[in-house]
Amino acid sequence: MTRSTRLAPASLKSKVMSADAAAALIHNGAVVGMSGFTGSGYPKAVPLALAAQIEAQHAAGNPFQVKIWSGASTGPELDGALAKADGIDFRLPYNSDPIARDKINAGEMSYFDMHLSQVAPMAWQGFLGRLDTAVVEISGFTPEGEAIPSSSVGNNKTWLDCAEKIILEVNSWQSDALNGMHDIYYGTALPPHRVPIPLTAPSDRIGQPHFKLDHSKVVAIVETEAPDRNAPFAKPDATAEAIAGHLLEFLKHEVKRGRMPASLLPLQSGVGNVTNAVLSGLLDSPFQNMTAFTEVIQDGMLDLLDAGKLRMASATAFSLSPDAAERFNADAHRYRDKLILRPQEISNHPELVRRLGCVAMNGLIEADIYGNVNSTHVMGSRIQNGIGGSGDFARNAYISIFMTPSTAKAGKISAIVPMASHVDHISQDVQVIVTEQGLADLRALAPKQRAALIIDRCAHPDYRDALRDYYDRALRSSYGKHSPNILPEALSWHQRYIDTGSMK
Ligand code: COA
Repeated sequence: MTRSTRLAPASLKSKVMSADAAAALIHNGAVVGMSGFTGSGYPKAVPLALAAQIEAQHAAGNPFQVKIWSGASTGPELDGALAKADGIDFRLPYNSDPIARDKINAGEMSYFDMHLSQVAPMAWQGFLGRLDTAVVEISGFTPEGEAIPSSSVGNNKTWLDCAEKIILEVNSWQSDALNGMHDIYYGTALPPHRVPIPLTAPSDRIGQPHFKLDHSKVVAIVETEAPDRNAPFAKPDATAEAIAGHLLEFLKHEVKRGRMPASLLPLQSGVGNVTNAVLSGLLDSPFQNMTAFTEVIQDGMLDLLDAGKLRMASATAFSLSPDAAERFNADAHRYRDKLILRPQEISNHPELVRRLGCVAMNGLIEADIYGNVNSTHVMGSRIQNGIGGSGDFARNAYISIFMTPSTAKAGKISAIVPMASHVDHISQDVQVIVTEQGLADLRALAPKQRAALIIDRCAHPDYRDALRDYYDRALRSSYGKHSPNILPEALSWHQRYIDTGSMK
């Protein structure tokens, strides 16, 4: 692999400066494309310096806000610091920072929650407006002056290509073994010039390992040595283990019926503790030689690679707990041939998810008795995170699986409700729902059959009678009998929680 260096090439030496000086190049109202996907590969110094400058401007009575585009969520030094400074006017495409979440839900920050595979094409199509500045963390330079990506790729290729000016953070905390792990595809085009993406297996490499870099656009280089910051995963509890158990039984059954090979099909695993618990469950499963075509590489995937169960994984980012990140960095060379990080428009591309036949496994907030899934909005109005890549995968997967504990808020809310208060995944995109109570295989079932199964298999016993009672009355009095519902009683469950603090 090409040699790498943390030092800026000769043509860019004069651009090395402090984070404060680099942040001063970002103006009020700027549209800034930041790197970052989950808590990895986001710039750690410039956003903090920018937040301090914004606070100083506000203290002096001057308005100062920016619009932030990213790969997905980032770390507290980016979304958290800028949101705390009241510095973000508009944000896309995904957020999980608690301070930014509160601002969005207080109506103080605009947020465009979008499918992650669509961000880069929409930027190129001009639908998102003009990008002023890219602020991108990299792990070094090649002797030819290209940029070596960091621990996430996200939309960085697009930001570097589209932005009028570029600020780079070179983070020497990132392992130099990242050099060669990436596959940056430069073959995407807009209609009518789009061509098929030549990837037929998760292990295919179709691009180049580094970002092309227009040196004339680079206005600043900031040197950092700062860790990625992802929250640690909770140890799987009995609920997560039960969900994982039902899911593994289902996968074994699918193999037995000849609907999947014994190595399964490429796995996609969403964010959250429950999906990570499923990966842990796969450690003790009979499946061998598995692959992943997914969005993020979590702790559970490293464990599967270490155990020799997972042959390789393709993703756009790491999403490792602090312990797992240290473990990876200490031994990164060992994983070099088993991991590929790609731009998120490729890792999540609907064409590829459909072609490869991914097994999509994502979390949900609530599902209704007909199988419509809400992944984003608590009580239909409060955004939790965003749709992320779940739509990219769910619509196009070979099997689309959603999982959740059957209740939330210490049992006061049922995750199975008569009517979802917000729908991200329509019932046609939801083939399996799993809770700790059991698994509902909804394939080829009509709405009334789905309702019976979801209530019997997935709802918590505390809510089953109420759901059955609702369904029986809906069957008698509904306007239509295809998906029986009583309006507005269907949503009164949510109102009951808002009014009394419990759905019971
Ligand atoms: N009603 C009300 N609140 C609910 C709820 C429900 N039915 N279900 C969950 N919640 C609340 C929880 O109480 C918790 O609130 P808190 O943070 O105030 O304690 C919060 O929502 C998160 O729930 P939790 O059970 O911790 O979630 P998780 O870590 O398992 O993640 C999702 C579940 C749905 C939030 C998460 O998977 C997600 O954001 N999905 C969308 C994006 C996605 O799927 N990306 C992957 C694609 S590759």
